[in-house]
Amino acid sequence: MLTANEIRDSFKSFFESKGHHIVPSAPMVIKDDPTLMFTNAGMNQFKDIILGNHPAQWKRVADSQKCLRVSGKHNDLEEVGHDTYHHTMFEMLGNWSFGDYFKKEAISWAWEYLVDVLKLNPDNLYATVFEGSPEEGLGRDDEAASYWEQFLPKDHIINGNKHDNFWEMGDTGPCGPCSEIHIDLRSDEEKSQVPGRDMVNHDHPQVIEIWNLVFMQFNRKADGSLEDLPARVIDTGMGFERLCMALQGKTSNYDTDVFQPMIQAIAAMAGTPYGADPQKDVAMRVVADHIRTIAFSITDGQLPGNAKAGYVIRRILRRAVRYGYTFLGQKQAFMYKLLPVLIQEMGAAYPELNEQKELIGKVMKEEEEAFLRTLETGIRLLDKTMADAKAAGKTEISGKDAFTLYDTFGFPLDLTELILRENGMTADIQEFDAEMQQQKQRARNAAAVETGDWVTLKEGTTEFVGYDYTEYETSILRYRQVKQKNQTLYQIVLDKTPFYAESGGQVGDTGVLVSEYETIEVIDTKKENNLPIHLTKKLPQHPEAPMMACVDADKRAACAANHSCTHLLDEALRQVLGDHVQQKGSLVTPDSLRFDFSHFQKVTDEQLREVEHRVNAKIRANIPLTEYRNIPIEEARQLGAIALFGEKYGDHVRVIQFGSSVEFCGGTHVSATGCIGMVKIISESSVAAGVRRIEALTGAKVEEMLDGFQDTMRDLRALFNNAPDLKTAIHKYIDENAGLKKQIEEFVKEKEAQLKDKLLQGVREVHGVQLVRFEAPMTPPETVKNIAFQLRGELGDNFCFVAGTLFEGKPMLTVMLGEKLVADGLKAGALVKEAAKLIQGGGGGQPHFATAGGKNPDGVKAAVDKVLELAGLL
Ligand code: ALA
Repeated sequence: MLTANEIRDSFKSFFESKGHHIVPSAPMVIKDDPTLMFTNAGMNQFKDIILGNHPAQWKRVADSQKCLRVSGKHNDLEEVGHDTYHHTMFEMLGNWSFGDYFKKEAISWAWEYLVDVLKLNPDNLYATVFEGSPEEGLGRDDEAASYWEQFLPKDHIINGNKHDNFWEMGDTGPCGPCSEIHIDLRSDEEKSQVPGRDMVNHDHPQVIEIWNLVFMQFNRKADGSLEDLPARVIDTGMGFERLCMALQGKTSNYDTDVFQPMIQAIAAMAGTPYGADPQKDVAMRVVADHIRTIAFSITDGQLPGNAKAGYVIRRILRRAVRYGYTFLGQKQAFMYKLLPVLIQEMGAAYPELNEQKELIGKVMKEEEEAFLRTLETGIRLLDKTMADAKAAGKTEISGKDAFTLYDTFGFPLDLTELILRENGMTADIQEFDAEMQQQKQRARNAAAVETGDWVTLKEGTTEFVGYDYTEYETSILRYRQVKQKNQTLYQIVLDKTPFYAESGGQVGDTGVLVSEYETIEVIDTKKENNLPIHLTKKLPQHPEAPMMACVDADKRAACAANHSCTHLLDEALRQVLGDHVQQKGSLVTPDSLRFDFSHFQKVTDEQLREVEHRVNAKIRANIPLTEYRNIPIEEARQLGAIALFGEKYGDHVRVIQFGSSVEFCGGTHVSATGCIGMVKIISESSVAAGVRRIEALTGAKVEEMLDGFQDTMRDLRALFNNAPDLKTAIHKYIDENAGLKKQIEEFVKEKEAQLKDKLLQGVREVHGVQLVRFEAPMTPPETVKNIAFQLRGELGDNFCFVAGTLFEGKPMLTVMLGEKLVADGLKAGALVKEAAKLIQGGGGGQPHFATAGGKNPDGVKAAVDKVLELAGLL
């Protein structure tokens, strides 16, 4: 029986023998494509070739690609684990032809590989072909059918509709009919009851699609019509895990050696064998699937986070934790402990797992622990929601509440329902679904982009000249309109461009396009499928006219300084903190730079200083740039160039060297480090477990900051009469201030004592009650309160104190009653509340002490009278 690793290798060798160049898998996390967060098919990394933006280096390629599908038409996260053949992360085996062979070879090689090489039983195989679509004006794909007929009996060739058998890359762009190969793995008995052809595309776990052969021959335009593609493309994708299942004679992907070692480790941890309890089996499959996704994403540079790709990873991690918690008894972080098993199984094919195991483990553990805390808060919230519903005589909680639990606390509906069931309750599912729909709609509206068709003026693709020039004569190749969030912009593709398109953390250039007729502002430059796209708010009135493309050179120079400085910082951090430091993200703008890197504790002030000193020394040494443009990747490695995990590199790369700092990099840089001027680190913080962030300024921005400091110092000195030693002067001031404060406190105490004595002399006896009436402006509330308490101490139980005072313009009423009056039924709080109306205020307090503030100082006397009247002491 072939192992998973042998199967992967055999695929590559087969297509190599058919003249294909074998390429490595691209990273699973996509960084420079605004339309996609994760690689979801093998063809993603070839989109620029398929779209004609770049010529193909090889006309035939094949690979095994790490893919992730968690939403959209291809998958639904909530399903994974429940069946036996869907995954979040999976490997896609694929072969491509870019303008070379087409249907005939694609079909016959697929057959040869499956039947002659892998020895799958042809009786179990079915092929689908596109049945045609009158609305598209397309007939049945008879061509593909005729090739299949050479291998398969007619009843194993099945017509399929547009939904299943017409593959489109996106709303617009290359597309075409496809043929899927399905395999029937059911028992002979089942097969004799219902023939396989009736089970194809019916979601049967043992009659499944294994390979999709896409024949891209059309281009879908924005108006929906199709035109012929100049260079036809073959794009195929085979589910690796499903193929392993078929070859290893299993009925579930999870029973193959791709997953079994992990499943066994999880079962051992849970203390239950796999296969003993259906609910626990689902949980084990969920964890075995999700741990791969999480580990590979972190390795590719995507940490769990609050937005976009980071949020997708966080949700997947939380789902696994939740299943472990609910069904496998894992109340503590547990997944990070399973990492060694994953590395043991996949580390040979993907060495990056092993190289980053410490970081993956730390991030996982911290995320797991954080979510377990949230989970417990959610459970408490659900308990309260249930109690409230019960108190209101209901057995159902609202769909809104269930949705809050889902959205904020990561409780999938089935968990909420499970807990509810245990308590004899239900949730309003209709309302929950409505909330979910609304949220999806909100997300769709926010993301909706309407793109028009490209208007092509000239065929061709862009040449980037920005490493050597910031101004260049050029012309427009094509342009189109895009509408997003009520804003209309234009995307312009130039023949040659000096504009750097945002990538590798460096922001895109801005500038102008100048023709003899007009000047158009370029507000940003972004990459789409490797093509620099210039964004403008206006279209030129004469788009065909020759023009100068001029980059804002000052901003570019500031960006270059910050980018080069990032390289020097990277090196210095490694020298000061250790070799474990790896870049985890960066942002290079004209104003500042930000650099994220793996490191497991706070960087101390001394270490930061040391890093800064090292970088500044290199800046002063004015080390010239050595740029290696387009050198073979092997040569770059020999130079010792540092590559980034999760970055896609071609066979030829660019390397940037400043002395001992050597990095793979496509960014723009200074000609010598002296141009950076100086670096100043302005902050150090944590981004996630095991990842620190520093922010720094260079050149003119440091000068601006120093100017600011200098101004502040000058102002401070002036405040301290230009004292030569400012620190001593400030200390002296602080000490003096503390002394004065103390004196004031004593003074206040003395005044309080005097005031109290004066009030004691004015005590009147009314109906046997010792009454103190106090009216005075400008008495702080604290003083009134202190005096009230002191008087009570001295005048005993049968005592009443009423004060109407003013402080900072605001009237205030204070009432203190002795124990006897309280025992007789008087309440200070009630008296104050009623009387405070006369000062347009409100307040309250305890039975023996209460205060109220108000807005009407003229009512103070009347309010005091009111208290006395209510207390029967007037
Ligand atoms: N790109 C095709 C797919 O993903 C092969 O199915």
